[in-house]
Amino acid sequence: MNKVEVRNLTKSFVERRMKARSPKSCNYHEKCEVLAGIDFTVKSGSFTCFLGPSGCGKSTLLQIIAGFQKTDKGRVLIDGREVSGASSRHIFVFQEDGLLPWLTARQNVAIGARHISDRRERASEEQDYIEMVGLQGFEDHYPHELSGGMRRRAEVARALITNPEILYMDEPFGALDFVTRLQMREEMLNVHAMFDSTILFITHDIDEAMQLGDQIIVMSERPSRVKADIRLDHPHPRDLSKGELAALRKEIYFLMGLHAAL
Ligand SMILES: Nc1ncnc2c1ncn2[C@@H]1O[C@H](COP(=O)(O)OP(=O)(O)O)[C@@H](O)[C@H]1O
Ligand SMILES: [Mg+2]
Repeated sequence: MNKVEVRNLTKSFVERRMKARSPKSCNYHEKCEVLAGIDFTVKSGSFTCFLGPSGCGKSTLLQIIAGFQKTDKGRVLIDGREVSGASSRHIFVFQEDGLLPWLTARQNVAIGARHISDRRERASEEQDYIEMVGLQGFEDHYPHELSGGMRRRAEVARALITNPEILYMDEPFGALDFVTRLQMREEMLNVHAMFDSTILFITHDIDEAMQLGDQIIVMSERPSRVKADIRLDHPHPRDLSKGELAALRKEIYFLMGLHAAL
C-alpha cells in the first residue's frame, strides 16, 4: 500500500540572494523554480532515500510532504488524503543538533514520551528506547557532555518513542565522522527492522542510500525532477562491491554526474 503519493509537485521561490553562487543560479528577485514536477510513490513501512545535488530542493520536498510548506502546483497524498498541515504523527530529525541543551539525554527523550500518561510506564519506555539506541550509562548527561554520535542517538530515540507513522530525516548523520556514521547506519537498519514507520531519508552519501534504502530517488539539478526511482529488495547487509548492486552503484554515481570518483 502507498503511504505517500507525490504527483507533479512544483515549487518556486523568489531568489533572495543578490550575489549569484553559480552560473546556474537564478537572478536576484526573480522567480526561481526549485521543484519542477516531482512524481513518486512510497510504500507503507518502507525506507526511501533521496539523493541529489546540493540545492536541488531535497529539504524543500520533505518539508512539503511533512506539511511545513505549501506546493505551488501538484499534490501530496498521505494514506490517500491530501496533506493540509503538519502532524504530530510525522516526526522530523534534522542535520543540526535538535536536543534541548538544558535537559539531560533522558529528559530530552522524555519529550517524545509525553503521550504516555502512566508515569511508571513512561519511565520504562524511556529506558527501553535509551537502551535501544545504546545510550545506557549516559542518561543523565547533558548534550554538551555527549559525543556527536550520542546526541544523534538521543534524537533518534526521542523521535522513535513517539511511534511516528512517518519519520523524516534530513541528512541526519552528515556532520558525523566516518566510523560514527557507519554505526548510525547500522542503527537505522535495526530501527527499520523493528518499527513500522515509513522513513524518508535525505543523504548525500550514495553508499548510505544503497545500504539503507528499499527505494532510492535520485533528483536532478534545479529545477529538479526525479532522475531515477530505484527499488531495492536485497537483504541486509548488502555487499556493494559485487554483481547487481555494484552495477547499480556505478549507475547512481553516473546519474549524479560523477564519472571519475569511483
Ligand atoms: N524559504 C525559501 N525562500 C527562498 N528560497 C529558498 C527557500 N527555501 C529554499 N530555497 C532555495 O531553494 C533551493 C533548494 O533548497 P533546499 O531544498 O534546501 O535544497 P537541498 O536540500 O537539496 O540542498 C535553494 O536554491 C534554496 O536557496
Ligand atoms: Mg537540504
